[in-house]
Amino acid sequence: MKEEIEQILAEVRDLKCKTEKDIEDARVRLLGKKGEITKLFEEFRTVAPELKKEFGQKLNVLKKEAVAKIEELKANVESSGASSADSFDATMPGDMMELGSRHPVSIARQQIVNIFRKFGYDVAEGPEVEDDYHVFEALNFPPNHPARDMQDTFFVSAGHPNPLLLRTHTSSVQVRAMEKMKLPIRVICPGRVFRNEAISARAHCIFHQVEGLYIDENVTFADLKQAILLFAREMFGPDTQIRMRPSYFPFTEPSAEVDVSCNICHGKGCNICKGTGWLEILGCGMVDPNVLEASGIDSKKYSGFAFGMGIERIAMLKWQVNDLRHYFENDMRFLKEFSSCVEV
Ligand code: DAH
Repeated sequence: MKEEIEQILAEVRDLKCKTEKDIEDARVRLLGKKGEITKLFEEFRTVAPELKKEFGQKLNVLKKEAVAKIEELKANVESSGASSADSFDATMPGDMMELGSRHPVSIARQQIVNIFRKFGYDVAEGPEVEDDYHVFEALNFPPNHPARDMQDTFFVSAGHPNPLLLRTHTSSVQVRAMEKMKLPIRVICPGRVFRNEAISARAHCIFHQVEGLYIDENVTFADLKQAILLFAREMFGPDTQIRMRPSYFPFTEPSAEVDVSCNICHGKGCNICKGTGWLEILGCGMVDPNVLEASGIDSKKYSGFAFGMGIERIAMLKWQVNDLRHYFENDMRFLKEFSSCVEV
């Protein structure tokens, strides 16, 4: 027995393992239920009493060294990274990166832009931080018009004759287009707008609009109506009807608000259209001669129409989203619902 203990001890001291599997095999061979050291402990019961002390001590040393050696080998393998390198299986399928999808507001914006591009409109953009002149004054807002009130507008620098502010609508880009572009003008202006509103299911302080402007000789209200009708049918389906209600905007005369026939109940009346069969989609009108003149366009020779719509609103109506806040919360469950939407 003595030789056996010494032989196994020498073996333990010399033990070399490269992988976790080698170490585990060695552990089972030495210390497992049927391991060599475990067997020696069983044999120890039959050792003569006068030899018990000597053999007992030797056996304990052997077991201690074996346990320590196994731990040491494990630590070495872990720190050298051999375990992961060794267990790396290059044939395993990789972790798939989750594919994102476009935000519904981006999808709707692109759809609107694409429809008007087909009608020959260019895309124009303007600054989000604008001045009072482009947002209000050049658009014929009388000095005390309520939309200039601090309640609606976020001012960047107040108290100046032409204060800087966050644009409250993309109609400001019409003004910049009229200043810059050669006539005739046919532009669509998508962009972000800001209003000092409490956030709710129907209102937000940041949202998106698309403004449209067409100026040429002999542009009439009939042209406006036809452009909106074609847009509505492309956006909401070929059977869509529109109706125009008289309205007021400082920058158009006459002005109208446009409703489309409800694409859910097809005019029968449902809770989306509140039983009316109609859904409001935009404001529009013939560009007021004062607005043309403010940007140096001869209002006797030229006329034009303009329209403006909220992108979130169009997207809500198209996809029956009942709360505006969904668009801003970036909840993956909501966003994923639009992953199969394609641009027209
Ligand atoms: N700017 C208006 C708004 O934010 C929308 C609008 C209405 C734009 C009529 C127009 C228009 O160009 O003709 O509510």
